[in-house]
Amino acid sequence: MRPTTSLSLSLLSTLLLLPISTLAAFTGQAEADGVKFDFTQLKQHSVIVEHKQDPTVVKSTYTINPVGKIEVSNEVSKEDQCPDGTQVCMISRLWHGDKPDDHVAQIIPFGSFESEKGSEPEYTIMRDADKKVLGLNVTIHGPEYGEKKLKQSAIVKFLCDPEKTGLEPDTDGKDSNSLKFVSYEGDQTLTLEWRTKYACEKVPGETPAPSQGSWGFFTWFIVIAFLAVAAYLIFGSWLNYNKYGARGWDLLPHSDTLRDLPYLIKDFLRRAVNTFQGSGGRGGYSAI
Ligand SMILES: *[C@@H]1O[C@H](CO)[C@@H](O)[C@H](O)[C@H]1NC(C)=O
Repeated sequence: MRPTTSLSLSLLSTLLLLPISTLAAFTGQAEADGVKFDFTQLKQHSVIVEHKQDPTVVKSTYTINPVGKIEVSNEVSKEDQCPDGTQVCMISRLWHGDKPDDHVAQIIPFGSFESEKGSEPEYTIMRDADKKVLGLNVTIHGPEYGEKKLKQSAIVKFLCDPEKTGLEPDTDGKDSNSLKFVSYEGDQTLTLEWRTKYACEKVPGETPAPSQGSWGFFTWFIVIAFLAVAAYLIFGSWLNYNKYGARGWDLLPHSDTLRDLPYLIKDFLRRAVNTFQGSGGRGGYSAI
């Protein structure tokens, strides 16, 4: 096999493999139905759900990182955190009055950042009856959980809300968190709702990034200069052809000058070198 062939083969396989490896994880960017969504301005975010269970209160924290794995802290013991590589996770803890238990009561990983083959994240666009974009439905698959080994998954509905960045936190009793817990069904499907402007078809207050089609002044200058030269050569040749019956090299306008150009340049260079050497040498011009 010639080296060029194997090179192009390896290039081809790289190109073929690329989309597959980027498909496997939700990295904050998605495309559905021709609409591109970018949630990379969002960060790891949580919502806490309280549940009275006399005499205790269960506080469940649902956390999602829209751009990667949930961060692992060195200050908390491993058993009290979501396993490394989790993207959507719940941790619940019992509270007695205003005192939390030392350890967590339950951890459920709903979505893994690196998904297994065949369980890549799924994206569905949500529209109203008038086809207006309401947001993006992202489904992330996770590991099995519990005695019944039920496969967990998280449906995150990113809803367009021009007023919200999506990072608004919980403030007591104000229901202000832009992330909401909706349901946990069949011990396997978690649904969250996340209101953010990044789920809108056109993100408010963001100037669209300059598209690659917008050329700088310099590029235009070169293109126009090139076109002008081309037009001059073509028109000149046409004129020479019709008016003077020129053929071959003579077609080009100023063909004599063009033909002489190499000599002219050589001559010019020689003079320049001579002048330079002349002024450099102390004696000035030497007599021939
Ligand atoms: C979101 O996607 C899941 C499957 O991935 C589907 O079951 C659910 O109905 C979808 N929800 C909406 C509102 O489109």
